[in-house]
Amino acid sequence: MLSKKMLNILNEQVAKEVYASHLYLAMASWAENIGLDGISEWFYAQSEEEREHMMKFIRYINERGGHAVVPLVDEPPKDFPGIREAFDASLEHEQMVSGAINDIVDLSIKEKDFATHNWIQWFVEEQREEEASVQGILDKLELIGKQGLYVFDRDIMSMRGEH
Ligand code: FEO
Repeated sequence: MLSKKMLNILNEQVAKEVYASHLYLAMASWAENIGLDGISEWFYAQSEEEREHMMKFIRYINERGGHAVVPLVDEPPKDFPGIREAFDASLEHEQMVSGAINDIVDLSIKEKDFATHNWIQWFVEEQREEEASVQGILDKLELIGKQGLYVFDRDIMSMRGEH
């Protein structure tokens, strides 16, 4: 059985994951509209992945006797100043999510909730991968100029790691 505090923090994480899914969806739609099909596909795939994260939290909460709440979602930005800025925003968002996951780990230790501690490790690893993946893209963007963007847009999907 989850403590009330743990139930609350896990439900807050449901909201964070669904917002992440919508944020990536907004980025995908924006990129598709400016003709960057590869980058758009990358964001669409990322959005799906975030939805899967949300589902994992919902199912875990319910499995442990809590009630997972489907939250209202804030509207993400419609437009982004540029590719670089969109990926900067992605990294910043992933770092925020990593911090939130760490808070859950921290609470699970304090409460000696070892089931949650064990379960949440998948997300600790996932966040490490996601931050590295977005950082890798930012590094590549640093290397290419504007002409390189066409080739980058074509190749970005092959940069998705195994999840
Ligand atoms: Fe599910 Fe990328 O945080």
